[in-house]
Amino acid sequence: MAKVIAFSIFKGGTGKTTSAVNTAAALAELDKRVLLVDLDQQASSTRYVGIDPNQVNPAFYHVFLKQTPASVVLRQTAFGFDILPASSLLAAIEESLEPGDEVLLRNILKPLQDEYDYILVDTPPGKAGLAFNGIVAADLLLVPASAERMAIDGVSDLINHVQSIIWNKYRNELSQQEIRILFTMYKAGTSHSPGIVQATRRIYGGNVLDILIPETVEFPRSFDHNKPITHLVPRHAAAEAYRSVARWIVNHA
Ligand SMILES: Nc1ncnc2c1ncn2[C@@H]1O[C@H](COP(=O)(O)OP(=O)(O)OP(=O)(O)O)[C@@H](O)[C@H]1O
Ligand SMILES: [Mg+2]
Repeated sequence: MAKVIAFSIFKGGTGKTTSAVNTAAALAELDKRVLLVDLDQQASSTRYVGIDPNQVNPAFYHVFLKQTPASVVLRQTAFGFDILPASSLLAAIEESLEPGDEVLLRNILKPLQDEYDYILVDTPPGKAGLAFNGIVAADLLLVPASAERMAIDGVSDLINHVQSIIWNKYRNELSQQEIRILFTMYKAGTSHSPGIVQATRRIYGGNVLDILIPETVEFPRSFDHNKPITHLVPRHAAAEAYRSVARWIVNHA
């Protein structure tokens, strides 16, 4: 049974997509069977791996609302993992979602769980219906927080919402769900980033991963080259950092 991991935080631009794509590539390096699900209508994960969302047809939309099997929409990437790519039609899903529909993705992923070891979900920013679908589908929420001033606000907004609303509403389904915080865009050699991490650890303790993803221009470069960091600059510390995330996931079980 695949473990489902959602990269979630309501705050935008904190490294959800970067973490989802690069963790997928690092898990594939460990010979794990990995599916990446792009739930964001910006289609950043889809573009990251070199797929044009305008050329995706049928798309996730047809899986979500038209009962097309996900296996028809899946694509192989050049990086050892599969993707359920996004298209602009995700906007139509967002429009159609009603209260209670948060559980749709969870049900859609069920038949795929025998095919994969890990299903990673890149969620959109904001309190959007698809973001909640990603959260409700997950066994593990990985919360990418950029190591800057507002990080704690973003993290506590997500965690408070999940624990007070979502865990109550889906008590049976999510009784085993775990949350971990992953710091991204970490600037070593300043006192600022370490201070943010320490302050967050004081609140969330062991739920903050020890792995720190460094800030480096190699990440925007890797997006522009449509290659995960492990393929663009395999020996770079940033590539090693996502390999550490992958090993943590595998060992955490
Ligand atoms: N560790 C890092 N160092 C430097 N830049 C980074 C790092 N991680 C991500 N970035 C860059 O920051 C920007 C935002 O990252 P990303 O798209 O992963 O965030 P996101 O949380 O998915 O954003 P959104 O909320 O819009 O979906 C991108 O340009 C990305 O290349
Ligand atoms: Mg994103």
